[in-house]
Amino acid sequence: MAADFSRRDFAKLAGLAAVGATAGAKAADKAAVDETLIVPDRHAPFPKNFLWGTATSSYQIEGAVDEDGRGKSIWDTFSHTPGKIEDGTTGDRANEHYHRYKDDVALIKALGVKAYRFSIAWPRVFPEGSGQPNPKGLDFYNRLVDELLANGIEPYATLYHWDLPQALQDRLGGWQSSDTSKAFADYAAYVAQRLTDRVKNIFTVNEVGRFVNFGYGWGIDAPGLRLPAAQLNQIRHHVALAHGLAVQAIRASGRAGTRVGAAENIAACVPAIATPENIRAAEIATRELNAGFLGVVLEGKYTDGFLAYAGADAPKFTPEELKIISTPNDFVGLNIYAPQYYVTASDRAPGFHVLPFPSSFPHMNSEWLRVGPEVIYWAPRLAAKIWNIDNIYISENGTSSEDKLAADGEVYDLDRIMFLRNYLTQMQRAVAEGVPIRGYFLWSLMDNFEWIFGYGKRFGLYRVDFETQARVPKLSAAFYRDVVARNAIGM
Ligand code: NOJ
Repeated sequence: MAADFSRRDFAKLAGLAAVGATAGAKAADKAAVDETLIVPDRHAPFPKNFLWGTATSSYQIEGAVDEDGRGKSIWDTFSHTPGKIEDGTTGDRANEHYHRYKDDVALIKALGVKAYRFSIAWPRVFPEGSGQPNPKGLDFYNRLVDELLANGIEPYATLYHWDLPQALQDRLGGWQSSDTSKAFADYAAYVAQRLTDRVKNIFTVNEVGRFVNFGYGWGIDAPGLRLPAAQLNQIRHHVALAHGLAVQAIRASGRAGTRVGAAENIAACVPAIATPENIRAAEIATRELNAGFLGVVLEGKYTDGFLAYAGADAPKFTPEELKIISTPNDFVGLNIYAPQYYVTASDRAPGFHVLPFPSSFPHMNSEWLRVGPEVIYWAPRLAAKIWNIDNIYISENGTSSEDKLAADGEVYDLDRIMFLRNYLTQMQRAVAEGVPIRGYFLWSLMDNFEWIFGYGKRFGLYRVDFETQARVPKLSAAFYRDVVARNAIGM
């Protein structure tokens, strides 16, 4: 009975999706008016070619920081600075993935996923950031990619997941200089020449919204600077420029058909109550609060609101740079964890009102990770509508959990399963309405170095014992494997 009902229901939603196939954003619009169509259905399958995956990043798992000619990154320096990492650890050893990558690929395979998002450490490939390449560094990724493909797993490579070569920080002030943007393009070209015969999808930069503000504005992440707003806006502009230059470099140096986009932690806005007015307000908020990166990449200009707000602190740019920055992308990656802004409509500029969070708002094992499954519905839906995006990947989603080993040696991470079940249900709702989400990368394959929290916060589907390096599948690994195998969410 239930299955019959769900099939009928899915057909109804699929009808809407068919409209969306020609005008995805319009379908989402229509749904905004007819709320009865928005019915998450856990039984409903995802589209046949929906891409299930999992994700990691270089500094968080590789270790081997002194091997095969790797240069230092700003995260080596930062994690070795006393007081910067909560548990006093570093990524020196991490998951020893550099040596254990074959075993780790087997773990990916055991999940049944079709794709794996990893990042390339820039200082392995260019130890000095630019100039002389280090072929041995790139060789590691050659081996990894070959191993993935031999196991039927599609590689999705990220070029920049925060491990900037220390040499560029020392020489140029890192992202404070547009010469770093140019060095990034050269690095992108070098990688594209050597990997795109096998790597068909490349993410340029990961979470600009975080590493610029946390790293250069608030002194929380590497390189630990506290620069004023004007410099911060200029840095973000240089990163956007780096992205655009890299898109062009990959197109020029890579195989034809290589697909490129960024992976951004979109400032995620959710209508507090889904009235048409509040939905419109959430749309305005999404556009304005993402104007500094996603907006300029996808529109080729900074919004009037962004420039007015920045005033004298606005970035300096040329029309030519805006053109480069907005070189068309093939997809947009969205890292989605917590709802950041619940908004309502406002008659006053800028047209939305941000509500304060009550202190009792629930969060996961990481305090910042507030639980709001509907964010994975709204953020892609609003982004697709505002910027007319055809292809969205959820480039990251997942949660930390206490993840203790039980007496029987298992990890019963029921909170992670709860989190995933609810978020995936909301993602299914979006997909069924025609929001163009093509794939999902669960963060993370295994516990790893969670930046300033060290190894204290565990995000993996596999538990890692950092003493012995033993990997144990958590209960959530079985849950995710089941989702992937059914191409639908079990109850
Ligand atoms: C986003 C970052 O890209 C990733 O490196 C981090 O571990 C996860 N969020 C979890 O905080």
